[in-house]
Amino acid sequence: MTAFLILVLSGLQVESETLSPGNEFTTFKIEGRKIGIGICYDIRFEEMARLYRNDGCEMIIYPAAFNMTTGPLHWELLQRARANDNQLFVVTTSPARDLAADYVAYGHSMIVDPWAKIIACADEGEQTVTADIDFAIVDQVRQQIPVFSQRRLDLYGTELK
Ligand SMILES: *[C@@H]1O[C@H](CO)[C@@H](O)[C@H](O)[C@H]1NC(C)=O
Repeated sequence: MTAFLILVLSGLQVESETLSPGNEFTTFKIEGRKIGIGICYDIRFEEMARLYRNDGCEMIIYPAAFNMTTGPLHWELLQRARANDNQLFVVTTSPARDLAADYVAYGHSMIVDPWAKIIACADEGEQTVTADIDFAIVDQVRQQIPVFSQRRLDLYGTELK
């Protein structure tokens, strides 16, 4: 995973002393449903989400802390995009916003369904977000908009290395 590049790029070099990037995809199952894990910056990489989908994931969870520039612009957009592209649930958990902190997080932990609809969203403060996850929606969307069977794999593709 490329998780940690953004932290270096945004000047939080201290992160590089305590964190290192992962090199493999991580999935687990809850009640037979496969869930993939990414971290923060990973959400910008559609290929990674695509590979999770190709591997059978029905949800991707991204612990993440966007800042006050990228949060308002990209936080919701990227989650809804990844959910829509891959027809799966996208879940993020962000730290709450602390204006006194060195790194001010945008907050707004969110749960997005496979229609790209936000089904739960925190505000910027400390909050617990819950939602009923109906995995039947995954099948519904995949049936009604069959992009994965209609993709022109003879012309383009996303492959695991
Ligand atoms: C947030 O991160 C982006 C990308 O690294 C950077 O361009 C921007 O200046 C940062 N904004 C704040 C408020 O730190």
